[in-house]
Amino acid sequence: MSSGPPSESMSALRRLLIPVLLCALQASLCNAACAEVDSDTEAVAGQGFKLGCISCKMRGEVEGTATVDWFFQPKGEADFVHIYTYEDKNAMILDERFEDRVDWNGSKNTEDLQDASIYILNVTFNDTGTYRCLFNRILTYPFYEFSTKASKLVHLTVVAKATRGMASIVSEVMMYVSIIGLQLWLLVEMIYCYRKIAAAGDEALRESAAEYLAIASESKDNCAGVQVAE
Ligand SMILES: *[C@@H]1O[C@H](CO)[C@@H](O)[C@H](O)[C@H]1NC(C)=O
Ligand SMILES: *[C@@H]1O[C@H](CO)[C@@H](O)[C@H](O)[C@H]1NC(C)=O
Ligand SMILES: *[C@@H]1O[C@H](CO)[C@@H](O)[C@H](O)[C@H]1NC(C)=O
Repeated sequence: MSSGPPSESMSALRRLLIPVLLCALQASLCNAACAEVDSDTEAVAGQGFKLGCISCKMRGEVEGTATVDWFFQPKGEADFVHIYTYEDKNAMILDERFEDRVDWNGSKNTEDLQDASIYILNVTFNDTGTYRCLFNRILTYPFYEFSTKASKLVHLTVVAKATRGMASIVSEVMMYVSIIGLQLWLLVEMIYCYRKIAAAGDEALRESAAEYLAIASESKDNCAGVQVAE
């Protein structure tokens, strides 16, 4: 009973500490969550595709706002065309080729954008080319503002069907080759061993028979008693 008060105060401490710890953990997770993962570069015709573009804010503690522009350079053409802009949580498609085909897939419910990914619906072969996303970020310090730009390129190829990586095909073939090869080898080894054992058995039989005869004839010569016992 004397342990009552300490454990009570312990649990009170826990009630206080755990939320604090969770908050701290969450905050650090949120700050650490931004990683500049490269976009996929192979889309399948007729399906949707997420064009990834992430630019992490280097100074997590500084307030910032960003707007994003996407540009597209079709394969074989020289110039980039402005196709999409995202500003103040509003998206606008600026090119008729992408009309009704682009959805925002980036940071949601914030103007402090770090993920500017867009989602192209119903990809066509005409979407092949190079995409550039451009972040215009304004960092707000107590006494001044600092504007930065960051841009990334994504070289997109459109294929009729998802192609598998060469490495995965090679490793699958190697797997079958090695399974079949091992089994054949096992079979050959078994036949070989069986024959050897059979041959050795015959030999042993012949040898023991010869030995037996030799002993028998020897004993016939030397010991008449054995012959009697036989
Ligand atoms: C991206 O947008 C597409 C189409 O609107 C949607 O189906 C998908 O869930 C979105 N993905 C993310 C991660 O927001
Ligand atoms: C996708 O595009 C093709 C032609 O480009 C069209 O025939 C088809 O209806 C489209 N599908 C969707 C779901 O929009
Ligand atoms: C692709 O581009 C060609 C040439 O500009 C055009 O004729 C064709 O209609 C386009 N296809 C799609 C699905 O947009």
